[in-house]
Amino acid sequence: MVLFRNILIFASSVSALRIGVGRRDVQTFINDFDNCVTKSTAFKTAVDNYNGGVLAAIPISTATNDLQTALNHTTSDVHANPSPLSSADFNTLAPHIGALVHDIDQGLTDIKGKRDLLKADGLIKQAIDLLTTTQTTHDSLADAITFIFPVEDQQTARDSKAAVDGSFADVIMFAVNIEEFQIDFGDKTEGKEVVSAFADQVRGKTILITGVGPNGLGATFAETLAAEAPRLLILTARSSEKVETVQKKLSNTFPGVEVRVLLLDVSSFDSIRRAAAIVNDYPESIDILINNAGVMNIEERTTNSDGFEMHLATNYLGAFLFTNSIMRKLVSDGGARIVNLSSSGYIFSPFRFADYNFEGKPLPESEHPPKALCEAYGLPWGLGYLPTIAYGQSKTALMLFSTQLAKSVGQKGITSVCVHPGAIATDLWRHTPRDNVEELFKVMPMKTHSQGVSTILVGALDPKLAGSESIYLEDCQLQEVAEFARDAAHAERLWELSEELVGEFFSY
Ligand SMILES: NC(=O)c1ccc[n+]([C@@H]2O[C@H](COP(=O)([O-])OP(=O)(O)OC[C@H]3O[C@@H](n4cnc5c(N)ncnc54)[C@H](OP(=O)(O)O)[C@@H]3O)[C@@H](O)[C@H]2O)c1
Repeated sequence: MVLFRNILIFASSVSALRIGVGRRDVQTFINDFDNCVTKSTAFKTAVDNYNGGVLAAIPISTATNDLQTALNHTTSDVHANPSPLSSADFNTLAPHIGALVHDIDQGLTDIKGKRDLLKADGLIKQAIDLLTTTQTTHDSLADAITFIFPVEDQQTARDSKAAVDGSFADVIMFAVNIEEFQIDFGDKTEGKEVVSAFADQVRGKTILITGVGPNGLGATFAETLAAEAPRLLILTARSSEKVETVQKKLSNTFPGVEVRVLLLDVSSFDSIRRAAAIVNDYPESIDILINNAGVMNIEERTTNSDGFEMHLATNYLGAFLFTNSIMRKLVSDGGARIVNLSSSGYIFSPFRFADYNFEGKPLPESEHPPKALCEAYGLPWGLGYLPTIAYGQSKTALMLFSTQLAKSVGQKGITSVCVHPGAIATDLWRHTPRDNVEELFKVMPMKTHSQGVSTILVGALDPKLAGSESIYLEDCQLQEVAEFARDAAHAERLWELSEELVGEFFSY
């Protein structure tokens, strides 16, 4: 009884972990699932009647109350103990499973009633339905079980599936097919939940974050990651004092994690080129790049030393030049990742090809900021320089950059995504008039720093996003973006314009 139940639980918990359900939710899910299976007398009878060694062959270490440890133990135990359940044994069990399906179904309906949990429940039911109808032709349930456990990724799953004959493989694929699952994270998800669900994607990795200061998302992101033992965190900033404060705190709390700092002013092409040369000389390759540095709502039009409007220069051109300048260092076993910190504020402006620098040049209507939307948000509207519109343009540019990156470096295994972290009370608001900020914070759904970094972490770590051409995440979920921010022709045109503006050409 215990074993078969644990197999089912294990299959569901593997799925749950993979799709990014937080550990607390997984534990609750397991408890609920456990209860509903335990209540099934039909199943109990079936398993009690079956005296096979396989049931004792897989010790499940639930006593530790540490799910990950339990899973690791289980996986290695299964490898160490191939189990001898034959298809005949399985067929003895199969009729009883029909009754179990009903009970599990009922239990899962109850679970679902409690909260919107996982699509997994439906999939597990389908898996069990298939089990009962196909009466598997597979030689050994044990083979199928060992097939479940070592699945590390979709490709391995497919390879394994090809290697396993008969319908049982299809059954298992239902239970572990992460492509059909939704990520169960949302607007309240804490950064540590994401990091602990994707811990494997952090361990031993080198991660570079731009714009790190003590009160910003970059620092919270780095701290959250550090808990799962990355190999090296490279923190960049324009202020050595600010970044060293973060470095000190991290090194005190996580002495095993190397933290390296690098001066980088992303609004200066010279500074970017100097920093990129240093990064290119590092012995390590970079698994994940987070283009986090940004400014918002600068009241008066300001330009950088290269003559570009400051939002455009800092939020976009800086990311464009720095990313391309270190592209050859972006190499990772599972595929490197670029995460661009965009914003839902992108919606306030398309990219202004006719007047990207806010110099008062005529703008075609297609590049006008959306008037009705600005009014609906109580924001000033106009065709000249306005802080929200300049910020919006720069964040739209990051979206188009991600689209073009997917096309140009996607085939090299580099995935690029944009994220909106949510509204968080960081220093980003320093240029926004105080009264406006206070009013806004009253009506906007605000997030804590930890909730804010969770979407960045999903963008950086979730294996399901690898190779994806969807480019934008909000509240930890993929979201559609306005046409003007994902149009392929615009993306290509912006890339070419950006090359001209930075005076360098990049082809891949
Ligand atoms: N907080 C939000 O509500 C929110 C919402 C949507 C999107 N975002 C995005 O999230 C990212 C992080 O913002 P945050 O909220 O953490 O704000 P933050 O605390 O102001 O952090 C931004 C960081 O960027 C740095 N930075 C600015 N200009 C730079 C430059 N020229 N070179 C190097 N670093 C520079 C800042 O350094 P200094 O301290 O030296 O200026 C700061 O460390 C930004 O891209 C922002 O647009 C935030």
